[in-house]
Amino acid sequence: MGHRHVRFGQWAETYDHGIRGRVAQRFYRAVLTTEIPAGCRVLDVGCGTGRLLSLLAERGAVGSGVEIAPEMVKVAQRANPQMEIRQGTAENLPFGDSTFDLVVTCLAYHHMDAPERFLAETARVLVPGGRLVVAEPRLGVLRRPVNALFRARDHVERFGSAAEVRADLERCGLTSVRTRVRGVTFLVEATRS
Ligand SMILES: C[S@@+](CC[C@H](N)C(=O)[O-])C[C@H]1O[C@@H](n2cnc3c(N)ncnc32)[C@H](O)[C@@H]1O
Repeated sequence: MGHRHVRFGQWAETYDHGIRGRVAQRFYRAVLTTEIPAGCRVLDVGCGTGRLLSLLAERGAVGSGVEIAPEMVKVAQRANPQMEIRQGTAENLPFGDSTFDLVVTCLAYHHMDAPERFLAETARVLVPGGRLVVAEPRLGVLRRPVNALFRARDHVERFGSAAEVRADLERCGLTSVRTRVRGVTFLVEATRS
């Protein structure tokens, strides 16, 4: 976990203005195609610099964030002073049971040490009937070689296919799982029953 923490921390002040932030905007647009009722309490897991949270707030959502890298938390909190942005991990969410109507995670699922732990935590913090949206890149034929490179370097990162992420959500007991494709993004959405 340490190396990621440091790497993301180093990106905090420049992420939004560089190539990573520009690419990420496409993913934010995809996430924003999900239904966001006014007043919806949203948790962004691995919220980075908090830009998606700002966009969600513009749609009327009440946002909160959790992020592993303290430098990212600082930037996200500066951008969204009215929100609660906590330092913590996806695998151990620092929020109470049944707190959110929607959990989103954008470009962060493939970084998680234990996605199944994140999914159990998501089910815990969502209200019954609450929804999860996972946004990840569609890498096509590049996915396997990229994952092989991560493995060779002992990185925990692993890009799942849409079908694999979908199966993860179903295994964790989330229901009404559906997959949508928006350009370079795939979205897997599910409900906590
Ligand atoms: C590629 S960035 C995406 C940031 C943001 N969601 C976006 O789309 O712009 C991945 C983020 O996930 C955070 N992250 C990685 N693993 C995490 C974990 N286990 N728990 C919480 N945050 C994590 C990183 O620190 C980083 O800010």
